[in-house]
Amino acid sequence: MKNKIYLTTPLYYVNASPHIGHAYTNVAGDVLAKFFRLTGREVYFLTGTDEHGQKIKKEAEIRGLSPLEFVDKMVENFYHLWEVLGIEYDDFIRTTEARHERVVKKVLEILYQKGDIYHSLYEGFYCVPCESFWAKPDIKEGKCPDCGRPLDFIKEKNYFFRLSHYQGWLIEYLESNPEFVRPSVRYNEVLSFLKGKKLNDLCISRPKQRLEWGIEFPFDSNYVTYVWFDALLNYISSVGVFYEENRFKGFWPADFHFIGKDILRQHAIYWPIILKALGIEPPQCVFAHGWWLIEQEDSLEKMSKSKGNIVNPLNLVKEIGKDALRFFLLREVPFGLDGKFSYKALVQRINSDLANDLGNLVFRSLNMVEKYFSGFTPPRGEPLPEYKEAVVNLLDKYTGFMRRVDFFQALESVWELVRVANKSVEERKPWILFKEKKTEALENFIYSLLEAIRIIAIHLYPFIPDTAQSIYTQLGLQRDLKKANLSEETKWGLLSQGLKIRKLPPLFPRIENI
Ligand code: ME8
Ligand code: MG
Repeated sequence: MKNKIYLTTPLYYVNASPHIGHAYTNVAGDVLAKFFRLTGREVYFLTGTDEHGQKIKKEAEIRGLSPLEFVDKMVENFYHLWEVLGIEYDDFIRTTEARHERVVKKVLEILYQKGDIYHSLYEGFYCVPCESFWAKPDIKEGKCPDCGRPLDFIKEKNYFFRLSHYQGWLIEYLESNPEFVRPSVRYNEVLSFLKGKKLNDLCISRPKQRLEWGIEFPFDSNYVTYVWFDALLNYISSVGVFYEENRFKGFWPADFHFIGKDILRQHAIYWPIILKALGIEPPQCVFAHGWWLIEQEDSLEKMSKSKGNIVNPLNLVKEIGKDALRFFLLREVPFGLDGKFSYKALVQRINSDLANDLGNLVFRSLNMVEKYFSGFTPPRGEPLPEYKEAVVNLLDKYTGFMRRVDFFQALESVWELVRVANKSVEERKPWILFKEKKTEALENFIYSLLEAIRIIAIHLYPFIPDTAQSIYTQLGLQRDLKKANLSEETKWGLLSQGLKIRKLPPLFPRIENI
């Protein structure tokens, strides 16, 4: 019986260090994983690296290393970045691991026995940066239709997987499962592509004389496996397919494969067909988010390792901190759309939402507790009327958006409460209540404010975990939010009277420039 929430990210090529684009997918996956853990679900969050193929081989050669030496070195950059960004994955799989290789070989055996793999002549083009095959009618002016770079011509005997045989099945499957590919613009794209064109079978081998760096074919040692056919199988090899049947049943089908729209064809066409041929259920949802673009000369271009126009997330974390970066990535652009990356937008977003709205709210509220109540929380009280609606509706709204993977709206729903709290300070003018010694009104006011802040913090935990934890600690609460439960923590009145607050410097100092 499946009981876990299973989320995945792509397996990134280790030909270069990860950039903001890779950070984006992993932060998004981590936020959803933390959210589900907060709701009490058991989560399995998988990430990893894609280590075979021609482009890795090429890059290793340039550095004068063997492919294995090269990947062993490069994978460290990914471990490091995920640690810096606070990504809590449950497994990190590398396609060069034995546990993965044995699954790839077993799949090849099964499909070969079944007649879904055959040997034939391949004649066509290959894009090394994309690791993609193209037939003549697909290409324009000799360039890759995806990335516009030059192609290699290939004519050689290879093994093929019968993709075409399953085209009709996939169309029907998509038609009866409109949520299989999200957002809907990507679903429509896949469906109209499938309806408009007969699929070619997929070339899934490389003769060793041309490329040795891959998983050897179990029934023909002259060949290695095509890197995409190898890499996609990680999603089932990580959770024990064939070798740990019970474990596998507890995880599969995956709930979400998070990917960028650049690798939609592989995930929405090749992958469900490979699974179908194996008699394994497709995943529940392939969610393809948009791209971070960057301005170059006069045009907007996709940020990309192979184009070298990247923003290094490690440098950004040094400048602004990990929570600010996590927040920016998911708050700036609705998940699914493309976004333009700029330092100006980054600074503006952090200053307005984090330094002003949230950071100031916490700082000045705690100042008031120090000044009016000698640093101790006032007695419990009911929420002031202006908070009622925002607090009562927040959990449902937020949870609804998170389950729909709408991070942007989820954050917006929390910000409604942030704005209510800030407005309440302006309007109720606590400094006057203090001056006029209206103690009960002042206590009620501060209690509502602190509870609102606490409830804001728990909702923000998946996005900005260290900040949320710090807010709790500053409120005088000793709780490990990693173990918290969202529905418990969102109940009004958890904050008790007489806690000693521990005010720290502002959570997010204003940034002047980067
Ligand atoms: O494609 N904006 O690996 P890859 C947003 N190994 N996201 C971006 C991005 C950008 N500018 N650039 C990269 C591969 N990404 C294969 C995957 S999976 C079985 C094999 C993110 O290193 C986004 O998630 O080229 C994209 O799909 C992925 O990195 C591509 O990483
Ligand atoms: Mg790529």
